[in-house]
Amino acid sequence: MDQTTPHFDDAPRMTGAGARPPEIAVILPTFNERQNLPIMIERIGRVLAGEDWEIVIVDDNSPDGTAAVARSLAAEDRRIRCLRRIGRRGLAGACIEGLLASQARYLAVIDADLQHDETLLTAMLAKLRGGDVDLVVASRYCESGRQAGLSKNRARASRWSTMLSRSLLDVELTDPMSGFFMIRSEWVHELAPSLSTQGFKILLDIAASAHGRLRVAELPYVFGARQHGESKLDARVALDFGQLLLAKLTNDAVSFRFLLFCLVGLTGVGVHMIALAILHALAPYSFSVDQSLATVIAIAWNFVFNNAFTYRDQRLTGWGFLGGLLEFEVICAVGAISNVGIANLIFGHENIWWIAGLGGALMGAVWNYAVSAAFVWRAH
Ligand code: GDD
Ligand code: MN
Repeated sequence: MDQTTPHFDDAPRMTGAGARPPEIAVILPTFNERQNLPIMIERIGRVLAGEDWEIVIVDDNSPDGTAAVARSLAAEDRRIRCLRRIGRRGLAGACIEGLLASQARYLAVIDADLQHDETLLTAMLAKLRGGDVDLVVASRYCESGRQAGLSKNRARASRWSTMLSRSLLDVELTDPMSGFFMIRSEWVHELAPSLSTQGFKILLDIAASAHGRLRVAELPYVFGARQHGESKLDARVALDFGQLLLAKLTNDAVSFRFLLFCLVGLTGVGVHMIALAILHALAPYSFSVDQSLATVIAIAWNFVFNNAFTYRDQRLTGWGFLGGLLEFEVICAVGAISNVGIANLIFGHENIWWIAGLGGALMGAVWNYAVSAAFVWRAH
């Protein structure tokens, strides 16, 4: 493989001790970009020639060995650094760590896969230096911005999410999904505690968390097609967006997982009724036996679907699956008992059947969710 190490002849002569931090940092999140990275770094070096810059590569221990490539580039030039994260994944989290790791005044985030037009960095820098802008966003949708590198479905998802962010989160950006922007470091440090490390909508998160306090400028660009490697975001785009939207709208009160958990629970109610109808028609047992069996079946259904979707990132397999199923049955049985107990209690006070029923069901759902999160799908 050809690993060309770029050389920059404008490297400032620094003595190490006493040298000031650079003025601009470019954060490059990478996952399996070993072929793209050297080209990208060379290009950035060319665009920012004459500027006082650094590059922070944040690699999530890519299996293709991107971090080793990054280190060999860093060995040639002190302005290049690599943060190698072990046991963690996620574009937003990687960007946040890279941003916080730099002391530069102006911080840029750009994809390392050559899909973003790095020549924009100069214009972005000029905007921030001008003094009346806090955030500059490279936009595919303003003025002459375009995208050449997105599939039809991705383009549609992108347009929809832009519209939703505008109407629901009050974020006035033409391209809130952009992964290419430059921001003043003070804002990063102020907003960092409220940013989500999950998913990849870091710009939208920044803009939403600032609640309109950021002075924003947008620059049009053309999103290019990928040359090497593949996109990591394709399948998760819509899910990720829903998650962030919910978190921002409810101030992190309702988790997306809990919502999925409740949705699965609703399908479980349907399964319960079908199972009950079949058992009732076929088996010569008493109603309470039929009802108990239907409950066990519905809980198993919920387990399978929660394991497949709600907790797809921590999916249990093999013996873990069986053990998890048993635990889940026990937890949800207790949940069902507390459901009836709470519903009776509310009914005693309010005497309105649907409020009591809803209260009981919600109580059961919260119990099932909280306890199964702690015991069945505990993050390892
Ligand atoms: N460290 C790290 N960890 N980097 C990651 C991860 C991760 O889990 N996932 C992706 N990256 C890096 C990639 O290596 C690449 O440099 C950059 O983040 C963008 O990832 P892609 O997988 O190429 O994303 P995309 O091209 O499909 O999505 C682009 O368009 C979106 C808007 O539709 C990106 O620009 C997104 O940032 C943007 O939101
Ligand atoms: Mn890409």
